Parts: sequence; structure tokens; C-alpha cells
Amino acid sequence: MAPSIVKHPHEVRIACERARARGERVAFVPTMGALHAGHLSLARRAKVEAGFVVASIFVNPTQFGPNEDFARYPRDLRADVEKLAAADVDLVFAPEPADIYPPGDETRVRVPSLSEPLCGRFRPGHFEGVATVVAKLFALVGESTAIFGRKDYQQVVVLRRMARDLFLPVRVLDVPTVRELDGLAMSSRNAYLSPGDRERALAIVRGLDAAGRAFEAGEHAARTLEGIAREPVEAVATSIDYVELRDAETLGPLDSVAPGGRRGVLAVACRVGSTRLIDNLVLGQEPPPLSIPHNMG
Ligand code: PAJ
Repeated sequence: MAPSIVKHPHEVRIACERARARGERVAFVPTMGALHAGHLSLARRAKVEAGFVVASIFVNPTQFGPNEDFARYPRDLRADVEKLAAADVDLVFAPEPADIYPPGDETRVRVPSLSEPLCGRFRPGHFEGVATVVAKLFALVGESTAIFGRKDYQQVVVLRRMARDLFLPVRVLDVPTVRELDGLAMSSRNAYLSPGDRERALAIVRGLDAAGRAFEAGEHAARTLEGIAREPVEAVATSIDYVELRDAETLGPLDSVAPGGRRGVLAVACRVGSTRLIDNLVLGQEPPPLSIPHNMG
């Protein structure tokens, strides 16, 4: 069935309250639209978690820097809603900037230590914009499970801390990165890549794969693993923001990562042509599953 589309914040709040009053659980998938199979895997996971699934589509101006792609970010609400209908989403929240940031709005949410490294160094203010908009969205949706992609690894870590610190009644779940057949992480920004750049972008996956294999073969030194991941990227990237292995929970620096010890996240951000791409690989033992699907059995 086609989802309802609402624009005003109070409409989302009421719809979610009604669903809970009917005894349904609510799951929430925040997006900026230009939806691809990665977003839809989040929506499908949401349906496993809850009877009532809300997706938001909002290109959030506060998380874009002055020289970033806010104005040209791809927008196609009609196509997005069709995809969300096929993924069984019940409600689409598609507000305008003035609905989320009305005149006089000034409260901002910061998670300083987790926002500072990695992308935070190259995108000042980005995670403040993300944490602020998601705090607003969580406040509207209320008690729920929110689903995020591990592709934006630092974002999930920031948002999980934000929800915890603000006592928001939202459980933050993360799901694996969905990739193209050749391994490139799906991203709305892949649409910017020329055919040549699209081919060159595969160096990111090759680097992460090589580092993953070296780790499996017993290489645990962070600088060595970073070097292995960096090599193919260096050959093709216009510029590299970082190739860094950090603690997977705190994002703090790490000298080594070993099976059974603390997990690490090997994260890459670089520009291919003029498009900024990110990807990552978690090294070390997976933690136990974060949740057992409620509708099993
Ligand atoms: P957006 O880039 O549209 O991504 C929405 C969600 O889809 C995020 O949780 C992101 O991690 C996830 N996602 C993107 N590509 C993915 C892939 N290849 N596999 C799995 N999941 C993927 O992230 C944002 O929007 C915004 O910052 C937002 C959280 C909506 C706040 O404005």
C-alpha cells in the first residue's frame, strides 16, 4: 500500500502516537532521499523490528558546509515514495527546511569527542547538523527503534551517544553496508561519478579488502593496516582526507587491533574526481547481535 506522506512535524508525532496506542511498535528510518538499495535495506530491517515504519526524507541544510553539495544534492520525492511503498513503509515525513528550522530556531546538539576525529576534521559542523536534526526527528517520532547504515560509521556512533545522553526513548540499530555488485558502497553521491571515476572509486574497496585479508592473516599493527588500505587509494584519489584505524566504540586512536581485543574501524574518506566518498571496515570480533527480531517464531 502507498504510504501516507506528511509534511508537518505534528502530523508525524500524532501518527506515531496513534500507532503505539494501537499496540504497534514504531521503527524509524531517517534519510535525505535519492534512495538506493542501501536505504531500502534499512526500511526492510525496520519492518522486521516494528509494525509501523516511518521514513523521513529531508536534505538537512545544517549538516552541509558552505562549499558542499546542498543545492545540487539529488532530490526526487516521487521516485523515493514509490521505493518506500515497495519496502512496506507506512508513513513518509517529507518536511521543508522551514518546518524543521522555523524562524527563531536556535538550539543545536553537539557530541564533541565523537564528532572531532575522522570526518569531523574535514567537515566542521557536519555532525552538529546531523545530531541536531536527528534529535528533532527522534523527539517527533518518540519511542521507537531507529535504523542507520554502518556505511556512515561515525554518524551511528555519534547518534547512539546523542540518544543516550538526551534520554531519548529511541534504540539506535545499525545495519551492514549494502554494496554494488563490484563492491562499491552504495551512496546517493555515486551519481556524481563519471564512468572513469566510478571505476577508480573501486580502489577504496580494494584497499579495505586487502587490509581485511592482512588482518585475518595475522597483521594487527594499525599503521601497517592503514598503509595497506591507503596504497590503492593513493594511486587514484584526487585527495585523501584520511585512512585511519580507530577504536570501533570510542573512535579513539589505536596502535593495534587483535582478535578478541578491542574492535577497530578502518575508515577511509577521499575524493575521486570531485566527489567525496567514504567507506569502512570493522576489524575484530563482531559483538553479539544488537537485537533479536521481535516477530520471529
Ligand atoms: P543519507 O545519506 O540519505 O542516509 C540515510 C541512511 O542510509 C543512513 O543511516 C546511512 O548510513 C544509510 N545508508 C546510506 N548508504 C548505505 C549503504 N550503502 N548501505 C547501508 N546503509 C546506507 O545519513 C543521512 O542521510 C543523514 O545524515 C541523516 C541521518 C538522514 C540526517 O540528516
